[in-house]
Amino acid sequence: MRLLQNKVIKKVTLFIGLLASAVVAPCWAESTGVEKGKALTFDRKKGNCLSCHVIAGGTLMGTTAPPLIQMQARFPDKEKLYDQIWDARKRNPNTIMPPFGSHGMLSNEEVDAVVEYLYTL
Ligand code: HEC
Repeated sequence: MRLLQNKVIKKVTLFIGLLASAVVAPCWAESTGVEKGKALTFDRKKGNCLSCHVIAGGTLMGTTAPPLIQMQARFPDKEKLYDQIWDARKRNPNTIMPPFGSHGMLSNEEVDAVVEYLYTL
């Protein structure tokens, strides 16, 4: 009887576990892109965006560039935002913003993650 009870408990626990992961996994996958993008944006050895841009939650921020706020409203076309980070010279040949993609400082996936994060601002 006790053995049977244990078996049932194990099965129920497994079922609940599976159910929970099915519900949680998609949200998790989405939030990791944003989290990764935030980490890259704030990382002084990667994006180092804070040295020029003011971003909510940042510290020791530079003000030589426009603050990164309301990104979705100002960049409804995600492609344009991507291009700006990949190579800012496309929009302004005299820009001081580093061409992160063209110079291999950020990969394609990393720029994508940064864009996902910026869209939350
Ligand atoms: C060395 C300074 C510098 C760094 C570092 C820098 N930027 Fe910029 N950024 C600028 C300047 C200056 C502009 C204003 C447009 C121009 O001059 O090209 C700009 C413009 C932008 C714009 C367009 C803003 C708008 O309102 O039109 C975005 C988006 C942007 N930067 C994102 C980033 C991200 C993301 C990073 C980090 C991966 C970054 N920048 C790092 C200097 C910088």
